[in-house]
Amino acid sequence: ADEGMWLPLLVKRLNHADMQKKGLKLTPEEIYDVNNASLKDAIVQLGGFCTGEFVSKEGLLLTNHHCGYDAIQSHSTTQNNILQNGFYAQTRADEKANPGLFVDILVRMEDVSGKVLEGITPQTPEAERTQLVQQRQRELANAAKENGQYVAYVRDMFAGNEFYLFVYQRFGDVRLVGAPPEAVGKFGGDTDNWMWPRHTGDFSLFRVYASKDNKPTAGFAADNVPYIPKKHLPVSLQGVSEGDFSMVFGFPGRTQRFLPAAGLQMTLDQSNPARIKLRDTRLKLWKEDMDRDPALRLAYASKYASIANYWKYFIGQNEGMKRLKTVDQKKGEEAALAQWIAADPARQQQYGTVLQDINQAYEGLRQYNLSSQYVNEAAFGTEILTLASRMMPLYQALKGTDKAAVQKATEDLKEPVAEHFKDYSAATDKKVFAALLGLYMQDVAKEQQPDVFQTVQKQYGGSMPKYADYVFGNSLLTSKAKVEAFLAAPTAAKLEADPAFKTFQSVYSNYLQNILPKTQALQASLVRANRLYVAALRQKNANKVYSPDANSTLRLSYGTVRAYKGRDAVQYNYYTTGQGILEKEDNTNPEFVVPAKQSQLLQAKDFGRFADKNGTLPVAFITDNDITGGNSGSPVINGRGELIGLAFDGNWEAMTGDLAYDPDLKRCINADIRYVLWCIEKLGGAKHIVDEMTIVNNGPNPN
Ligand code: ARG
Repeated sequence: ADEGMWLPLLVKRLNHADMQKKGLKLTPEEIYDVNNASLKDAIVQLGGFCTGEFVSKEGLLLTNHHCGYDAIQSHSTTQNNILQNGFYAQTRADEKANPGLFVDILVRMEDVSGKVLEGITPQTPEAERTQLVQQRQRELANAAKENGQYVAYVRDMFAGNEFYLFVYQRFGDVRLVGAPPEAVGKFGGDTDNWMWPRHTGDFSLFRVYASKDNKPTAGFAADNVPYIPKKHLPVSLQGVSEGDFSMVFGFPGRTQRFLPAAGLQMTLDQSNPARIKLRDTRLKLWKEDMDRDPALRLAYASKYASIANYWKYFIGQNEGMKRLKTVDQKKGEEAALAQWIAADPARQQQYGTVLQDINQAYEGLRQYNLSSQYVNEAAFGTEILTLASRMMPLYQALKGTDKAAVQKATEDLKEPVAEHFKDYSAATDKKVFAALLGLYMQDVAKEQQPDVFQTVQKQYGGSMPKYADYVFGNSLLTSKAKVEAFLAAPTAAKLEADPAFKTFQSVYSNYLQNILPKTQALQASLVRANRLYVAALRQKNANKVYSPDANSTLRLSYGTVRAYKGRDAVQYNYYTTGQGILEKEDNTNPEFVVPAKQSQLLQAKDFGRFADKNGTLPVAFITDNDITGGNSGSPVINGRGELIGLAFDGNWEAMTGDLAYDPDLKRCINADIRYVLWCIEKLGGAKHIVDEMTIVNNGPNPN
């Protein structure tokens, strides 16, 4: 169908008629309503990074395996490796608590553009505008929090042309209920990631718990009870056919569809190559050690998966930008916009030199961009410097005189420190440190480098591995025992003398003093230019209804089940089956292992009520819904509001989708709900979990 991650609040006005044409049977109020239960009440943002949906009246939540991955790993040991073997809670008592994990459920959203922009005119000086806008956003959010009862924030849309308030309930007791073996949940590994055709059972199960009066709690409490959601999704076993209506409801993280050509160019030839190179280096070093040591393989599993996921994303994005000539396309649009502005004095007055301003800002940003990338991906690509950065609040407290502040900062560190060392190998991190900081010293302009590199030159003959020996040989940040001893009697002097902390300080102060002031000024000029650019585009193309870029707020996208043509002579089908799992099976390759029981069940065609009409086991299907990262775990819903799948990925041909949308190529990859249920019931032997769901049979999907 169409580009668009729509705000549910506006669906009634903007999309509903078109959705009906495609097969939607629900009213706008059944999708989004503040006063009565509606679909939105079944959708949660999981941990701020994924989406989940209620599938039972007792708070059972379905999301992706890769969304639950970190939690699943945290409950795994080499003796009881539930990441590898899978896990289904037999009783409520077996459900596993996950400190720090929360879900947000939207209470309401509101267009507050009028309130935020009141009295602001094109003549308002930019600094004054920024100050007013920020202050009003804060005030509106604070008022909506109702004394801490809700989580609330205002997000800008269309580069600061519009503002929306979001009010949530946050539930801090979210327990793991089940997950398939990793060989199912991550079948195909990094090789299949971001690609179709797919055979991954990318699901996991959680349960949201609440107080006895169904209210959110900040964390786990033993006497909490399952949350009763206002709405849960019925599950349809009808299956999908091409052309069926599909909608995806969830929390897409970030798109940059309004990024100007100069920004695309910088991504293409600076940011992405740097990220790819640095991640490639880090992943190889991690993998070397993970392959040698099963305990390390488990400890680094989640970090590895998340770094590898976007490593491949950046590669695909760059390949796609070249193939689809994304920069040239944008340049063409900008040339047309420039003409449109020049054609009318009123437009000239309003939009002035917006395109020149943008290009000039990027000219400047290009001078510093590599430094920023290397701080993020090289310096903070090492775990020890990330831990060092965590010490900053404590260090600042220690420099002051407030004893209570020191105590609080010390207390605040306990959990992150435990978390850090739970999955840490100093020996591995040392190799990464030597390699990544070595690249930093080699690739970034000399005059933008931190002082510490001079020390490396003078005292270590320019050898980063030798410097790494010194840092890891002498820092207290390499072991949990040493950090705990330090936290028992912290002083500023101890941190100042620590070589890892000193390295961090050098990198960070260089960034704060020499890089950030330059990029901040340029970014500030871009804020205004981007706002005008987006306003001009929307005015020029007044007939086109734009949807705002994704920004981790609740969105709905709609479309249909739809095959695609990948490239010349290659036509992809819209669904995959269990047969494809057996075809990909390779028990000598960890990414394509098929557990023996699964292989047997597939060969015996033991599919029960989950079989398709032709007797095959449906595994995954594609739709043309417009989604991005953060949508992971989102429900795919048919025209009657029933769950038919779980969105979990995008396809290789459309890796530029976050920057530019191509309707012919972009597809959303979904696990078929029947495969998910088959994995739970037949493969996992956990029928009691499926029985909690509301299975409906209302006939074929609308289209
Ligand atoms: N590419 C998916 C996403 O970002 C994540 C897939 C996880 N699977 C994997 N093999 N790493 O939505």
